[in-house]
Amino acid sequence: MPQISITVNGKVRKARVEPRLLLVHFLREELLLTGTHVGCDTSQCGACTVLIDGRSAKSCTIFAVQASGSTVTTIEGLASDGELHPLQKGFWEEHGLQCGFCTPGMILSAVNLLNDTPKPTEQQIRDGIAGNFCRCTGYQHIVNAIQHAAKNGLPKRTRKGAKAAASAAAGGR
Ligand code: FES
Ligand code: FES
Repeated sequence: MPQISITVNGKVRKARVEPRLLLVHFLREELLLTGTHVGCDTSQCGACTVLIDGRSAKSCTIFAVQASGSTVTTIEGLASDGELHPLQKGFWEEHGLQCGFCTPGMILSAVNLLNDTPKPTEQQIRDGIAGNFCRCTGYQHIVNAIQHAAKNGLPKRTRKGAKAAASAAAGGR
């Protein structure tokens, strides 16, 4: 089995995995990072979205071996020093969730969106989360939550170039 090495939430994780193992299953079943959800088997729902080298990606569409050498951020890695990320605060303040199943993926897609477009229009927000389905909220509160975060801006660690920051945090490995 191939050996992989992925920096996940600032920590280098090495393992031997089956070549067919999906990244989402590596995160959930090997690392027990169960905030990354599986909501479909057709790559449509976005519940499995994580950041790979600072860009959002559906972790059910990528083999763990393909992510080797990359930096991955899951929802568990967004808060820092007990402080919620501005997007987490936005979802909290604006009631951007009900069951919460879509929320981790929605938030990580929104990090990507605000990296590309720090002050998005409502339409840009709706387009930015078009790959993420919510079965509960009707989206308006989610849009409000992302607008709330856009007002505060993203912290450095989740801005573009977060790979360099995360590898530095992991001791440059
Ligand atoms: Fe639905 Fe990945 S689990 S898109
Ligand atoms: Fe339930 Fe989005 S909050 S699926």
